[in-house]
Amino acid sequence: MLDKTKYHIPEHVAIIMDGNGRWAKKRALPRSVGHKFGAQNFRKITRYISKTGVKVLTLYAFSTENWKRPLEEVNALMGLFKQYLIDSLTDFREDDIKVVFIGDRSAFDPKLIELINESEEVAKDRKGMLLNIAMNYGSRDEILRAVKQLCNEAKNGEIDPEKITEQDISSRLYTANLPDPDLIIRTGGEFRLSNFLLYQSAYSEFYSTETLWPDFHEEDFDNAIIEFNKRNRRFGGV
Ligand code: IPE
Ligand code: IPE
Ligand code: MG
Repeated sequence: MLDKTKYHIPEHVAIIMDGNGRWAKKRALPRSVGHKFGAQNFRKITRYISKTGVKVLTLYAFSTENWKRPLEEVNALMGLFKQYLIDSLTDFREDDIKVVFIGDRSAFDPKLIELINESEEVAKDRKGMLLNIAMNYGSRDEILRAVKQLCNEAKNGEIDPEKITEQDISSRLYTANLPDPDLIIRTGGEFRLSNFLLYQSAYSEFYSTETLWPDFHEEDFDNAIIEFNKRNRRFGGV
């Protein structure tokens, strides 16, 4: 466990959990097996991170573009979401983790929607880390919704277009009540956001590691925090 007196722990960490498919391929296994190990790792690492002092953890689980994958893979992922959401309901109670979801949940099957709503409901009074799961999430979709909402409010005379502020945009995003991410970690070695938190990441520190998601363990998270502590965040100042 990281020495909290030595390192500044970011308030909000977001993780792009990438590399499940490659992890499976390396072992000549179907991609769905990689997702299964990835889902197991999700539970383990979330519980660890909740003990480090991080206040908000956002995990990118399924993007608005991931529907393009073969039906078999999408179905395997949906099955795992159901399985692991049910399990995490009990698992996360012990750690006092509050669970919320961002993204368009209406596209999921009714059983999964029910589980999502239920996992938010049972955890709503918890006081520990906020776990924010991005599912059927896409930043462009999120921004588009905010724009439509603002246009409707303007049309109805509820808001003056000339007076719209950056805060008015933020407060209409899925992440309305959350601080911007301080650190975005991507596993699997790519250096891109893949439609994740585009508006919110204006001043986030980006950390990419070659480690594939199912292999991303406690010490890998610690390394990301150590690297974050070396960054000089200027926010445009000096
Ligand atoms: C991330 O792993 C999980 C999801 C996108 C759901 P990938 O499935 O993208 O794994 P790679 O990138 O193909 O290795
Ligand atoms: C980003 O990974 C989405 C998630 C991790 C959920 P992708 O594997 O979908 O991203 P690309 O296709 O490599 O950009
Ligand atoms: Mg990928």
